[in-house]
Amino acid sequence: MANSVLNQQNATAEVQWQPKDLVRGLVWKIAIATWLLMAVGSATRVMNAGLACPDWPLCYGQLIPAAQMNLQVFLEWFHRLDAAAIGLSAIALLGLSLFYRSRVPKWLPWASAGAVFLIVFQGVLGGLTVTQLLRFDIVTAHLGTALLFFCALLVIGFMLTPYEATGNIG
Ligand code: HEM
Repeated sequence: MANSVLNQQNATAEVQWQPKDLVRGLVWKIAIATWLLMAVGSATRVMNAGLACPDWPLCYGQLIPAAQMNLQVFLEWFHRLDAAAIGLSAIALLGLSLFYRSRVPKWLPWASAGAVFLIVFQGVLGGLTVTQLLRFDIVTAHLGTALLFFCALLVIGFMLTPYEATGNIG
């Protein structure tokens, strides 16, 4: 008896679970991580740490520049590391959208591909920021693309949020 009630509950939970919910959760996590990364990027700028790692994509030719580590190097290095994690998450978002394409809105794989394009473009701009020694137009484009990527995530997240009407008129 207890078993059949549990089975019924499990079956209901399975019916209710939607890949859309999984994707929405991932989108909000990437949005929060991006917001934090933008704060780290701003700190990098105001701390004059933009060239604390003089090369790109590695920092002093290493994955972890332990010998050179100080606050400025940490900010620039962590900014890149966090950006790489967000890039991988965006690729995972595209993978999930494609895998579940028959059970998610039709626009989602396209929107996810757009997000991946923006993050790759942002990575290239980030590299140019360093190699072109903080050229003002590149730094500006880097900030603009960060805002565009963040806004794209917010739009995707809100469009995946279920709409619940109150049923009240007036
Ligand atoms: C998700 C990806 C990224 C986002 C959202 C992001 C965001 C930002 C933001 C908001 C700033 C502050 C800009 C300003 O105050 O004008 C910044 C600065 C910076 N970012 Fe990124 N960034 C990303 C990836 C990268 C990557 C991959 C690099 C690679 C080197 C990079 C290098 C830099 C540098 C050097 C600065 C400091 C610029 C300066 O000192 O003027 N960023 N980033």
